[in-house]
Amino acid sequence: MGKDLLDDAPPAAPCQPAAAPGARDVARRHADALLNTFGQVKAALVGGEGSYLFDAAGKRYLDLLGGIAVSCLGHGHPALVEAISAQAASMIHTSNFFATPAQVELAEELLRLSLPPEARATSRVFLSNSGTEANEAALKLALRHGGQARPRLVALQGAFHGRSTGALSLTHKEAYRAPFEPFAREVTFVAPDDAEELARELGRGDVAAVFAEPIQGERGVVALSHDYLRAARRLCSEHGALLVVDEVQTGSYRTGAFLAHHAAGITPDVITLAKSLGGGVPIGATIAVGEPVCSLLGPGSHGSTFGGNPLAAAAALAVLGTVQREGLAARIGELSRRWSRDLAALSGVAQVRAYGLLIAVELEQGADGPSSADVAAALMEAGFIVNAVTPTALRLAPPYTLSDAEADSFTRALRRILTTQTKNSALPAAGNEVGAAGGTSSTEEKR
Ligand SMILES: Cc1ncc(COP(=O)(O)O)c(C=O)c1O
Repeated sequence: MGKDLLDDAPPAAPCQPAAAPGARDVARRHADALLNTFGQVKAALVGGEGSYLFDAAGKRYLDLLGGIAVSCLGHGHPALVEAISAQAASMIHTSNFFATPAQVELAEELLRLSLPPEARATSRVFLSNSGTEANEAALKLALRHGGQARPRLVALQGAFHGRSTGALSLTHKEAYRAPFEPFAREVTFVAPDDAEELARELGRGDVAAVFAEPIQGERGVVALSHDYLRAARRLCSEHGALLVVDEVQTGSYRTGAFLAHHAAGITPDVITLAKSLGGGVPIGATIAVGEPVCSLLGPGSHGSTFGGNPLAAAAALAVLGTVQREGLAARIGELSRRWSRDLAALSGVAQVRAYGLLIAVELEQGADGPSSADVAAALMEAGFIVNAVTPTALRLAPPYTLSDAEADSFTRALRRILTTQTKNSALPAAGNEVGAAGGTSSTEEKR
């Protein structure tokens, strides 16, 4: 990469932490010890600080994927570290036979941030450990609501709701579904933004719930129109179906608003959250909005050993408190507007779809243009972590604390790569510094 790479280099960052003994072998040993569900790993990472991650060879990367929209305060944020450490020193886990202050404060804060005042008193939160689990709880609410009379569920083409067999039944992509079919329940997939098709399906009177992400990540970060979300709300109410809004990727301030659907002015029946909520500590949340939805699951009908344990709840409270204290929601909007404008101006970029700090960079598709996987691999080699979310688009979901200088270093690196790479030359050289950068698939990457 030579001199150009130095020009692109991210701004000065702290020295990398010392790698643990044996860390250099980790990428190789990974393949012999872990089930191969993610393909070849791209690097063995041994530490992080701020917006950076470090691999076993001492190379640093600007983490623009944030662990797939999770590490929203970057790595080692003092407020998060302090909250986790203090909670760990006192009580990590109790079981859900007991109440804990952190769990209760978090549920109260989620109700406050998510719902209009009049809906809060009659709404309740179920805490779990992941986005999939948050959607499983939503699915149980839907099944209890639907009973025998409403056995069908509706989800959107392009949807991603998780990998357990329940959440997978609501996930659209054939490659994810096919090996595990048939599923226990019938799911009809409708075209996003087609309110007439949704009205037809709901008009059959047998739908328990409609599941929708306000911005579909798997489709390449594509937002539903606000009109469609409003139509979905109205149609669900008219036809007695629940509206479940999956904010696993878009919630917790990712788009600048606490929840992406707030901009459409709707109140769903069920909301699911995970990813950025814990800043990297696993947590999921399902909000059942109002009566009768919040009474559909009673004692014994659902549970989780770890869900909402004090450690995870303390982490989530630290994330929410830090975003509010540091004014990060406004910062997300400002950075997003400026950065996406700069990225859209690059030659080789066809379009930028930016919703706060959930951004897709759609590459121009010429005869010899590189695929998104090729570009992601070249970026990895240059020290930037992104992901090829579709064969033609890169996804960025960086920390909310990303600096202007860090964002600009990426823009410069992408400019250089797009002006110098063609389909073949973009493939990383064998034996490059990271070794694993060539593990990117030729289409989009597995999540
Ligand atoms: C919209 C959405 N829902 C659900 C999930 C599943 O979350 P998890 O991987 O935490 O189980 C994801 C994960 O990518 C997601 O993007």
